[in-house]
Amino acid sequence: MCGIVGYIGSKQALPILIKGLHRLEYRGYDSAGVAILDGGLKLYKTKGKVSHLENFVKDKNTKGTIGIAHTRWATHGEPNNINAHPHFSRSKNLAIIHNGIIENYASLKEELIKRGYTFTSDTDTEVLIHLIEDIKISEKVELEEAVRIALSQVVGAYAIVIISEDEPDTLIGARKGSPLVIGIGNGDFYIASDATPIAEYTKDVVYLNDKEIVIIKRDKELKIRTIENKDKTPYIQKLELNLSALEKEGFDHFMLKEIYEQPHSILDSMRGRLNVKEGSIRLGGISDYEQKMANAKRIIIVACGTSWHAGLVGEYLFEDLARIPVEVEYASEFRYRNPIINEDDIVIAISQSGETADTLAAIELAKSKGATIIGICNVVGSSIARATHAGSFTHAGPEIGVASTKAFTAQVTILTLMALRFAQMKGTIEKSRFYQLINELEAIPEKVKETLSIEVQIKELARMFTYTRNFLYLGRGYNFPVALEGALKLKEISYIHAEGYPAAEMKHGPIALIDREMPIVVIATYRGAYEKVISNIQEIKARKGKIIAIVTKGDKTVKELADYVIEIPETEEMLVPLLATIPLQLLSYHIAVMRDCNVDQPRNLAKSVTVE
Ligand code: G6P
Repeated sequence: MCGIVGYIGSKQALPILIKGLHRLEYRGYDSAGVAILDGGLKLYKTKGKVSHLENFVKDKNTKGTIGIAHTRWATHGEPNNINAHPHFSRSKNLAIIHNGIIENYASLKEELIKRGYTFTSDTDTEVLIHLIEDIKISEKVELEEAVRIALSQVVGAYAIVIISEDEPDTLIGARKGSPLVIGIGNGDFYIASDATPIAEYTKDVVYLNDKEIVIIKRDKELKIRTIENKDKTPYIQKLELNLSALEKEGFDHFMLKEIYEQPHSILDSMRGRLNVKEGSIRLGGISDYEQKMANAKRIIIVACGTSWHAGLVGEYLFEDLARIPVEVEYASEFRYRNPIINEDDIVIAISQSGETADTLAAIELAKSKGATIIGICNVVGSSIARATHAGSFTHAGPEIGVASTKAFTAQVTILTLMALRFAQMKGTIEKSRFYQLINELEAIPEKVKETLSIEVQIKELARMFTYTRNFLYLGRGYNFPVALEGALKLKEISYIHAEGYPAAEMKHGPIALIDREMPIVVIATYRGAYEKVISNIQEIKARKGKIIAIVTKGDKTVKELADYVIEIPETEEMLVPLLATIPLQLLSYHIAVMRDCNVDQPRNLAKSVTVE
């Protein structure tokens, strides 16, 4: 939530900052702003997207070579010009950008009001910059020391960058809970919420750790101090980020591009890990822990949103193949409900961004109880990836569309590899069955490609249901999480109310909603509970609901019952989620486009949820 970017060097800062904000817009897009030192401190901010800000500053002729910029997802105060960042201090000598929440802002604000401060915005951020300036003046300390003292009084999460009119060659950044990366260029520095605004300028980056402050001075070495006032040596890492992955490359939207990338992204998540000839699965990142995982008495999966749905598929896979008991928990519930966590528990945290605040907090809780924490993340260098003991990256490449697509199928692929590996280690699977499954897994990318060819048919279907107000998604077994994911995708980007349900549970409630206006997407592929799902379809038909069925290629029975059918290639039951999700992603995409919704940046959502 909220994207922040800063630059100091010899180039004009404004174009770099605006481009950076475009890259970070997935983190929030209700208002944006920029502060540049150009003679004095110039501040421009507007409600709306980064493109509004870009138009607004076009003729401002700001030539400064140091600046900070922000794209906002509102937490405190409605999205408007005043609440947009950056925020000035009282003297207007300092400006700040902030991602996160200052939880004790009310008490700090009260203190500052007593000291004569007035506030122009409703934000917690303005409190912080006033506090910093107050400390700087009253304690007569340097800015970097004032920042350190102020942060030691702050409760909450933050990534901040500060610019000062009195120190035109300095940027100061700090983080706790929200990410911050510094890029070291040739005579210039970049600082941002993630590496995407930095990648085209330099590959040398430093990921700031929690409770660290970075002091960036023009033409000087980076300096890092902790809030407890200890010096730290910056650890420079090489960035591996393909720039073309950050562009739409001819697609109308990032979401569509990412849907189409799935044959590759699934392959990339298996690359170097699955060797069908040898009959081996090697997950290097967890090799030191795989024995412990395979023998675990219990695995707890924590995640949010789409990643939670992947976790549910994981539960079915681990129990089915490796006979390990699994619990899947919403991270936000887990962290606050006093759960029982034992030292021999394995906690698997699944997160595309690696920054989700609730998932991170759930990890910290489980860690404090002595559990082993394994990550399944997409973003290398992310907070969750670094907070875990070990893990497997999904290698799906940057996912920019706010609605998650390729990250989900990559997560399911990793979970499948893990479950198969543990089953092999424990001997809970016959050798011949293991070979059957890994052969089929290897064939999945081609089958995903084949599945994508139904887009024209889906577009037709989307036309018919563009203005429908409700949808129901049903599935059983491995297809139940697919139903949940299909419904979530539709809600997120088309704003149509949709519910995912286990097909058999329909008769305990949702059946009352069914009439001839209600479209019901039923995932009715072969094997598993195929016959049972057919009975559920009959129940819907008897109540005149409109049935859209996802079926296995060549299916005849469901075809006769359903109003519309979408065929997907045949595969093993446990691998169906990797295929059946694709038409549901395409259906929500096309409905959203036809409803003229902003597919890549749906209202009120953000891709990286760094607040609880
Ligand atoms: C947000 C995103 C979802 C995502 C969820 C969890 O709600 O909009 O697409 O599934 O966060 O994010 P994570 O990065 O932890 O997978």
